Amino acid sequence: MIKSDFNKYTSKFINGVDKAKFNKIAKTILKSFNGGDLSYWNDINSFVSKDELNSIIEASTYVRNNCDVFIVIGIGGSYMGTKAIMEALLPTFNKNAPEIIFLGTNLSSSYYREVIDYIKDKDIIVNVISKSGNTLEPNIAFDIVKYIMEGKYSEDELRDRIIITTDASKGSLRELANKEGYFTFQIPAKIGGRFSVFTPVGLFPLAVSGIDIINLLEGFIAGYEYTAMAIDYAVVREALFRKKKQVEAFTVYEEKLYYFTEWLKQLFAETQGKKGKGILPISIVNTRDLHSLGQFLQQGNDIIFETVIGVETAPVIKVVKYDKTLQEINRIAEDKVCVAHYSDKTPSLVIHIDALDEYCLGELVRFFITAAISGALLIDVNPFDQPGVEKYKQLIKESLNNIFIF
Ligand code: PA5
Repeated sequence: MIKSDFNKYTSKFINGVDKAKFNKIAKTILKSFNGGDLSYWNDINSFVSKDELNSIIEASTYVRNNCDVFIVIGIGGSYMGTKAIMEALLPTFNKNAPEIIFLGTNLSSSYYREVIDYIKDKDIIVNVISKSGNTLEPNIAFDIVKYIMEGKYSEDELRDRIIITTDASKGSLRELANKEGYFTFQIPAKIGGRFSVFTPVGLFPLAVSGIDIINLLEGFIAGYEYTAMAIDYAVVREALFRKKKQVEAFTVYEEKLYYFTEWLKQLFAETQGKKGKGILPISIVNTRDLHSLGQFLQQGNDIIFETVIGVETAPVIKVVKYDKTLQEINRIAEDKVCVAHYSDKTPSLVIHIDALDEYCLGELVRFFITAAISGALLIDVNPFDQPGVEKYKQLIKESLNNIFIF
């Protein structure tokens, strides 16, 4: 369940009139999700078919039983959501085998050197994920990993160890998979990278990691219930932006949601940061960052609002000295920081989930995807493209003689 309060810590900055300006467009957006041209977001078949889901579960069992290291190659939307959900739900220590290594998110030789040395004597299965099949970083990662694998495995063995997730029919990765006979999963044409965590892009590696993807999907479907709340959130953010609050801090009080805030930054920046518009997303993990960015939010340049994401229940750890649980103290910290920030310069929008589990994260992902799309529509930008990202990709491609195809 998602609970929200977009009023308590915003009302001295914006009023009903500021929000009412968006009534008409908000209604149109709601209609688009409820039976209009965005209603495909409410159909799980838009993300993954029943057959594909069975195949994901079957393949994930195979991977879990047949490698020491599972390498997941991808960047941006082909990486961030999966990483966010794994970090939130998997144990920090003593993770179940196989070990999962993400690759293709940087061009750091030092990092690659370490990865190469670490994996060279291990049994490897790799999942290469790229919707376009046209992205430099995963291309390089696959080149390097494949070279290592070719030194260890026969061509037949490679076909059991290389799994491709890409567009159903287009792109150089699809062509390679067809040519080499690699096992593939499909990314639905309609679902863009940063929205794709509940397609095979995220579902397959998440299933390998041991996360219950059926529960995640159930939460995601149930998240439909929060469509109006997500549009309301988009409206309040935009109303704050028009009061010169140009930066949104996604603030969590749960260490394990750090990568979730990274996913949020990607989701909102790529969905809304176009045509000279958009709110700049930053992330804050408290209480750590109270001792750094907290000062700025309290008394610095007056340009920030916070979206505070809290988790209501947590494992019980008694802090004897205060006769409270650690969770109770964390909740007090969250509330008092909102009070303190509000008393000076910073409004907060508060969103709570019940627990850090698959179902609640499914709901939360759905909530923020709906909000990001709605926020873009409110400011009249296309939520589904990323022309700026394409620009850098194209320039690098030209410098590398146009050869970075898989
Ligand atoms: O949201 C997006 O579309 C981007 O972040 C892409 O996911 C990212 O650029 C990677 O693209 P691809 O999956 O085509 O390699």
